[in-house]
Amino acid sequence: MHDEVKKYYGEILVSSSDLQTDACCTDSAMPDYLKGPLADIHTEVSSKYYGCGLVAPQQLEGTRILDLGSGSGRDCYLLSRLVGETGFVVGVDMTDEQLAVANRHLQWHTEKYGYSKPNVIFHKGYIEKLDELDLADESFDIIISNCVINLSPDKDAVLREAWRVLKPGGELYFSDVYSERRVPQALVSDPRLYGECLSGALYWNDFLTLARGSGFSDPRLVEDRPLTIDNPEIEQILGPHNFFSATYRLFKIPELEGSCEDYGQAVIYRGTVAHHPDHFALDKEHVFESGKVVPVCGNSWRMLQQSRFVDHFEFIGNWNSHFGIFNGCGTRMPFTQSVESAADSTPTGCC
Ligand SMILES: C[S@@+](CC[C@H](N)C(=O)[O-])C[C@H]1O[C@@H](n2cnc3c(N)ncnc32)[C@H](O)[C@@H]1O
Repeated sequence: MHDEVKKYYGEILVSSSDLQTDACCTDSAMPDYLKGPLADIHTEVSSKYYGCGLVAPQQLEGTRILDLGSGSGRDCYLLSRLVGETGFVVGVDMTDEQLAVANRHLQWHTEKYGYSKPNVIFHKGYIEKLDELDLADESFDIIISNCVINLSPDKDAVLREAWRVLKPGGELYFSDVYSERRVPQALVSDPRLYGECLSGALYWNDFLTLARGSGFSDPRLVEDRPLTIDNPEIEQILGPHNFFSATYRLFKIPELEGSCEDYGQAVIYRGTVAHHPDHFALDKEHVFESGKVVPVCGNSWRMLQQSRFVDHFEFIGNWNSHFGIFNGCGTRMPFTQSVESAADSTPTGCC
């Protein structure tokens, strides 16, 4: 599959418009503070963007970020701007043609951002084998990835390596494609469906199990949307199989529990994260309004208290008493819309 995927992204696809799905459209509203930096990215880099979501978590200044499957480098160059000159971004990709585009514009972006030297580097390699690139244990604050892990034949190795290279309290914040049900092998073996980021997609509940098995005990869904297939032939082959693009954040905090437990704790967001004065979204279900006391489970408390967000919250309570399961915990399909209901709604613009 590695060779088929290299061929797809190195030779078959020329630009984002060649994709057969709307995977590379980001229909969530683009935050204003990202519009300028995105517009500043070199057009050749942007034209070969094949991502499926926005991978720009909050509070990036000065951080060290790894991009798994960096492609032509669009997200790396966006993050290069957001981490500032004191931060650093490492991109890893296995496809020569994609790496060539990314590297061709390294100096261009360095000058555009007014940096004295590049704060981005691209490595050729496999995201399942980061050890071969000498990426040290606990050396990144954040790992991002955009529409790549579905393409990996060994997703377990990717998550295990991500856990290894993340610093404690760091996070894997990534967008990818998921299926509503398990995809049969006949579809997985089809190179076009696989290359299109469809048939390699994990069934969402298998992903959650895999993530927990790699140490990421409480995966948090940030946003999701159903994918539409723009090719009737592919749609027919896929039959009842529906796919979603989703962004998850997975914190490397070994103390996180398998479920949300209630210790009677609460937090207050101080409104101090740059560009987020009114509220802070930890995930789709946890949006903290500035100045408001919000009850949280033990896991949310730890995600805020053991990460780069600690100084932006006031923490109320302790671990002395356990009050049972936190209200609202449960297992269900996390994605909100079916493809059918999305088709009935008004379409929004692509990125
Ligand atoms: C769908 S594209 C996404 C590229 C980029 N993240 C973006 O948003 O434009 C998938 C990229 O992942 C790379 N890729 C896929 N599997 C990989 C693997 N196992 N190791 C390294 N790179 C991989 C491909 O070469 C390709 O550039």
